[in-house]
Amino acid sequence: MDGNGRWARQRGKHRPMGHQAGFKTTRAIVEACVRRKIGALTLFAFSSENWKRPEQEVGLLMDLFMRGLKSEVSKLHENHVRVQFIGERSAFSPKLQAEMQRAEEKTAGNAGLRLAIAVNYGGRWDIVNAARRLAAQVQAGELQAEDIDEQVFASAVSLADVPEPDLFIRTGGEIRISNYLLWQLAYTELYFTDTLWPDFSDEELGKALEFYAGRQRRFGQTGEQVEANA
Ligand code: IPE
Ligand code: MG
Repeated sequence: MDGNGRWARQRGKHRPMGHQAGFKTTRAIVEACVRRKIGALTLFAFSSENWKRPEQEVGLLMDLFMRGLKSEVSKLHENHVRVQFIGERSAFSPKLQAEMQRAEEKTAGNAGLRLAIAVNYGGRWDIVNAARRLAAQVQAGELQAEDIDEQVFASAVSLADVPEPDLFIRTGGEIRISNYLLWQLAYTELYFTDTLWPDFSDEELGKALEFYAGRQRRFGQTGEQVEANA
C-alpha cells in the first residue's frame, strides 16, 4: 500500500493526511474483497524499515493503527473476516499488542476472508525467524536436520496455514518487492500500478484481477502441458 505521502503532497497537504486517506482506502478494499469473495488478503501496513521514518510520522501511524483496530474489528467480525497479524510484534506497545491479540481471538472462528496485516514485518526476518524456529526444534531433538525440506520450511514461515498468494499488488509506481513476503511470493503473479494507494479503488482492484485472470500459471511446466492438464 504505497503512495500515501505523495498523494498528500500533491494536494499541498501534510503526509499524515495521506495516511488518513490511505486508511479509508484500506477499509474500502477489505470490504471489496469480502464482496468479491476473495479467500485471503495480506496487507503490508508497516515494514521493519518504517521505524526509520520521522518519529512523528511513526507515532501517527501507530495511532491510526490503534484507532483502526478499535473501530473496525466489530465490523470485520460481522463480515466473518478472520484477522491475523504477521511480523515481530514485540516492538509495539503492550496496549497495541493486546489489541492485536484481542482482534485475533475475537475473529479466530470466522470462515470468511483471511485478512493478515503485516506489521513490523520483513520478508528476510520471516525467513530467519523460520530458520531459528526449526533450529530450535533440531536442538531439542524434535526434528532431524535432514528432514528439513521445502514443505517443512514453508510450515515455519508466516501464513503457513493460508494458501500461497496468487496475486501481489503494489501501488505507487515502484517496481520492487521491498522485503515483503519473499518466501511466499515465489510463484505469485506480480502487478504494479502507478495509482497512489489513497486513489486505489474497487475498480482498480478489478483491473488487477483482470490482469491476473489473463495469466497462464505454468509453475515451471510448458504452456502445452498446462493446457493438456486443464
Ligand atoms: C505507504 O505510503 C504507507 C506506509 C508505509 C505506512 P508512503 O508513506 O510510503 O507514501 P509515499 O511513498 O511517501 O508516497
Ligand atoms: Mg512509500
